[in-house]
Amino acid sequence: MTILDGKKISNDIKNEIAAEVEKMKANGEKVPHLAAIIVGDDGASLTYVGSKVKACERVGFESTLVKMPHTTSELELLKKIKELNEDDNIDGFIVQLPLPPQIDTQKVLLTVDPSKDVDGFHPENFGKMALDMSTFIPATPFGILELLQRYDVDTKGKHTVVIGRSHIVGRPMSILMSRKGWPGNSTVTLTHSNTKNIAQITTQADIIISALGVPNFLKAEMVKDDAVIIDVGITRVEDADHPKGYVITGDVDFENVSKKASFITPVPGGVGPMTIAMLLKNTLLAREQRKG
Ligand code: GUN
Repeated sequence: MTILDGKKISNDIKNEIAAEVEKMKANGEKVPHLAAIIVGDDGASLTYVGSKVKACERVGFESTLVKMPHTTSELELLKKIKELNEDDNIDGFIVQLPLPPQIDTQKVLLTVDPSKDVDGFHPENFGKMALDMSTFIPATPFGILELLQRYDVDTKGKHTVVIGRSHIVGRPMSILMSRKGWPGNSTVTLTHSNTKNIAQITTQADIIISALGVPNFLKAEMVKDDAVIIDVGITRVEDADHPKGYVITGDVDFENVSKKASFITPVPGGVGPMTIAMLLKNTLLAREQRKG
């Protein structure tokens, strides 16, 4: 069994990006600038956005954090997005999801300039991804592809089962794993909350990508020997013994599933850090595209 070490690989990627930034600086060029908008004060979202900003510092990017109160109206948020669209100093930006209920997420995503949409959530970019055109690939799926590639995991002709159909992970992942090329070329089954007999499907899988958000959902008896297991779950589970009062728990019963798996991502230290590294990679790409 091999651990897919997202902490290590994301660190390698950040070093590669930092080296690119050094070259930009040496040439007297502008360094990439990422902005993040966060609406409200959800603890987990604040932590994720904080990590994204910290990662920018680590690789030498400029960053801007825009904090808006949970009472922000849709109009106010759209106005802020338009400001960032027009700000020549910003190469790419993200609007952290989820948004409060008074705001229509689809309207928000449609307002982001596709050339600055480093999350890859705008329909134009999502469509390009589905059609194998060059574009920003959403950071979490992009991170999973990168992990599979750097560990030389064979995906061709394999049966990939994706659990969860979210627009951020499950849906794009199902498209990417079916694409011609590597990683891809696999036969994909996309399962979700209405799927019947899910264990019957997961036991047929060569590769399982779980993005459900239910702690320890995937048990050893749901997995065949030598399967590749990618755990995208990052649920905060209360734990009074832990200084923070919670522990981050994945979708996979790691202790038992890892005994059967050929490759497996840990939580934490698997997919999570890869997401941030690939957001930086998309921002570098956005900068290069703006340069012309
Ligand atoms: N919420 C959870 N994951 C993501 C992500 O990748 N990007 C944004 N903007 N919000 C998220």
